[in-house]
Amino acid sequence: MSAKVTITVTVNGQSYQREVEPRLLLVQFIRETLALTGTHIGCDTTYCGACTLLLNNEPVKSCTVLAVQADGGEVRTVEGLEKDGKLHPLQTAFSEHHGLQCGYCTPGMLMSGVYLLENNPNPTALEIKKGIQGNLCRCTGYKNIYAAIADAAEKMKAEGGATKQQAVA
Ligand code: FES
Ligand code: FES
Repeated sequence: MSAKVTITVTVNGQSYQREVEPRLLLVQFIRETLALTGTHIGCDTTYCGACTLLLNNEPVKSCTVLAVQADGGEVRTVEGLEKDGKLHPLQTAFSEHHGLQCGYCTPGMLMSGVYLLENNPNPTALEIKKGIQGNLCRCTGYKNIYAAIADAAEKMKAEGGATKQQAVA
């Protein structure tokens, strides 16, 4: 067993310092060490996108990143989307448009969608498709997910933009 190393990672605005094995994956750190199980593991091979979260405001498949690579970094997971009991506009839109069935892909879809909308408030239909091209869904046929993201873009504009700053506050 490798010697453990101490890492400090800010997750959804809260700082965590933990000793981890160098081989520990970021998704395991989030789910098992911090017990934030909203981030899912679907394939473990960088294929499905269920494990997508934002690391330093970039979407990553956390089954492909070591926890030690997040040392000193900032992670956002699906648990951080709701603020003061209020769902993120994208979560509301997923609910209203039935953008999920089993829900397994949903946390990853949401994080890819949030990244897209924070960086492109007016995405075209094609840009929405490209924005979640790394996330697989076996249930919905994607149509309702696209509709949810498009609607969330409108909702966020109407609310003056659920900005990155707000999301990490
Ligand atoms: S679990 Fe990471 S891409 Fe599937
Ligand atoms: S809702 Fe079941 S995999 Fe997407």
